[in-house]
Amino acid sequence: MADISSRFLGISSPNPFWLASAPPTDKEINVTRAFEAGWGGVVWKTLGEDPHVVNVNGPRYSTLMAQDRRVMGLNNIELITDRPLRTNLEEMTRVKKAWPDRALIASLMVPCVEESWKRILPMVEDTGADGLELNFGCPHGMSERGMGAAVGQVPEYIQMVTQWCKQYSRLPVIVKLTPNITDVRFPARAAKAGGADAVSLINTINSLMGVNLDTLVMHPSTDGQGSHGGYCGPAVKPIAQNMVAEIARDPQTAGLPISGIGGITTWKDAAEYIALGCGNVQVCTAAMVYGFRIVQDMCDGLSNYMDAHGFARIEDFQGRAVPTVRDWKDLNLNHIDKAVINQDSCIQCGRCHVACEDTSHQAITFSKEGGVRRFEVDDTECVGCNLCVSICPVPECITMRSLQPGEVDPRTGQTVTGEYANWTTHPNNPMRQAVTAQG
Ligand SMILES: Cc1cc2nc3c(=O)[nH]c(=O)nc-3n(C[C@H](O)[C@H](O)[C@H](O)COP(=O)(O)O)c2cc1C
Repeated sequence: MADISSRFLGISSPNPFWLASAPPTDKEINVTRAFEAGWGGVVWKTLGEDPHVVNVNGPRYSTLMAQDRRVMGLNNIELITDRPLRTNLEEMTRVKKAWPDRALIASLMVPCVEESWKRILPMVEDTGADGLELNFGCPHGMSERGMGAAVGQVPEYIQMVTQWCKQYSRLPVIVKLTPNITDVRFPARAAKAGGADAVSLINTINSLMGVNLDTLVMHPSTDGQGSHGGYCGPAVKPIAQNMVAEIARDPQTAGLPISGIGGITTWKDAAEYIALGCGNVQVCTAAMVYGFRIVQDMCDGLSNYMDAHGFARIEDFQGRAVPTVRDWKDLNLNHIDKAVINQDSCIQCGRCHVACEDTSHQAITFSKEGGVRRFEVDDTECVGCNLCVSICPVPECITMRSLQPGEVDPRTGQTVTGEYANWTTHPNNPMRQAVTAQG
């Protein structure tokens, strides 16, 4: 059976599933329940300096739901821990002692002043924690006080604070990145330059959940006023995975370990992050929505997947998808797909026809014979865009077929050669023509 144990930065845990810093890791009672349920590690809810922060007593959370009321996105305006530092440190010490085989990481956010970091680091080390995570990501509340994302948005600050932590602590340092930036590679490079042992991402995304159209007050609100919050959950997974892949394939951060966070709900999500280069993963929303026991399915699913593919250890497939993430210019322009509708499973709803007719390439025809509606792909118009596959309500009813070498695309007359041809060498590329003209 596959070995799903993890040694991220040399920190052992029985599986790669850690709880991200958030309410599930705020107290001894939560973390103990999490470890009893089987979580491999926790990043404790972010610690700050005393006097501790005060949270609002109105709604802290709100959700974006699918029609079946599954939570797709979660918004929060919660700050870091609102309990005294001493209480947290005492509880962390007891938990680590009781659960020596699990990873316990201290998440930290103190003012961007050397003295503050110098003061808190030894106290944290005394708990027996296995590592530090620097919260440079929280986008609300704390950033207005010059912490969290306010640090994470300035690469020079990231580098400076990371250096302090490496200087004043012997623990491995994970820098947690904010997604509220334009290019995540710059903060990741700064973390590496500061000596970080790893990066983790993503923290939450700036968000506002809507407006009450009767009162015209933004949502969520406290006493008639609201503030933007941090967005997470399944809806953010594609954004997070792109950022993870950008860092994993950046030559300047090559080899920098990554802890993947964002929308992980099932073992499949986790396996995808690992394939994109992550050494382990962290989960928040899924635990808040479904409870701690989901980790059991995650462990079983990951283990079964690895068995089925012959992966003995996590490292056997870690990063295997990274070389498939390329710049657009590298895509093969000599590859041609066409949509295919399975007439046996088609329910004749016509959504593919409407979408293609109104907004794409008029490549799905509609006919009616003897009262039976029929939708068919017209290969002379289909560009293989995948819109019909994406919106069809019946799984696997519409699929894509790749033309084989020797086949002719009836749309363009182009013969598929099986050779690779990208934009750099394409005759329509003006830069190529310039190069060719020059000689
Ligand atoms: C209610 C709530 C509170 C959070 N508090 C913290 C925090 O104190 N420190 C931190 O680094 N991240 C915090 N986060 C962010 C999570 O650790 C995580 O990065 C984010 O939720 C994305 O993961 P997910 O999609 O699995 O929820 C919080 C998230 C939520 C929902």
